[in-house]
Amino acid sequence: MAFEKWSFVHVADMQPGSPKSYRFKPAFLENWHTAREQIMEIQPEFMLIGGDITRDGNVHKWELEEMKADFNALSIPYHVIPGNMDTGNKHTNRQGPWQDRDDISLNITSEQVQQFASVFGPLWWSFVHKNLRVSGFCDMLLGSGLPEETALWQWLANQRNQPPAKYHIWIMHYALFINELHEPNHDIADPDHYTDWYFGIDEPHRSRLMDIFKATNTTRVITAHIHCRKDHFTEGIAFDLAPATCFAQWHDKWSDGDPTLGFLKYNVSQTGIEKTFVPLEKISARTDGYGPGGHPKPEARDYSLAWKKQPE
Ligand SMILES: [Fe+2]
Repeated sequence: MAFEKWSFVHVADMQPGSPKSYRFKPAFLENWHTAREQIMEIQPEFMLIGGDITRDGNVHKWELEEMKADFNALSIPYHVIPGNMDTGNKHTNRQGPWQDRDDISLNITSEQVQQFASVFGPLWWSFVHKNLRVSGFCDMLLGSGLPEETALWQWLANQRNQPPAKYHIWIMHYALFINELHEPNHDIADPDHYTDWYFGIDEPHRSRLMDIFKATNTTRVITAHIHCRKDHFTEGIAFDLAPATCFAQWHDKWSDGDPTLGFLKYNVSQTGIEKTFVPLEKISARTDGYGPGGHPKPEARDYSLAWKKQPE
């Protein structure tokens, strides 16, 4: 069946935080509200939401619930995957090099991932809209050893049996690779490569996923997490590293990277999928707020700073 040109958007890394939390940057919230208004103007047929929708949704269920209310208020269908700020980070058995970060304690847990599922539903899903199949999953589970990882791999393997559409897009939160598909794993303990480790998927999961992408007629893989836009194309598949709306990162990583804040709009037609970067119309100038960035240890979370009372 032939379809007229239609569009969807991918937005990620909003992490607005909350004045009820131990940390809050009003600029991140304002930027998300700007993106929301621009998405409303576009009126896409659906939104793909690529994770890190909260600053501390792994700790505060109410941050997840508040963002869900935000999404519902848009009255645009949406499909969401979690990011590491929503459920805990990708798994490691080894500590990174930073004294103020306990990487092992940041590992994704069943409790955190089930908390996300209790608000947003299934942790992996696939649907067909017109001539496009879209599949998404919680990639922080890969290598975690959690029971949910076993179930995820079973589901991923079963995707080989799904009827193909003209195009197939996958979304995940971490980048499948940083510079090239067959790069070696990056060393979490090496200060020069900690961020490479932090932003990407390790082997053997990377190759296992790539096999599934190739076997399922995959056109594109859209990822988030890095907060710097960059295009890769390898083995017939486009890898779109998406921008953030909250704050920019990794300005100097790639000569053709662009950390400008915004989101992605995709126009789908019979001849292909056209991607457009939509920059935020306005970047918040607010510099107020409180609390630490990154992944502070529990003892560094001072709730007495909160501007508002936390929900009971
Ligand atoms: Fe992230």
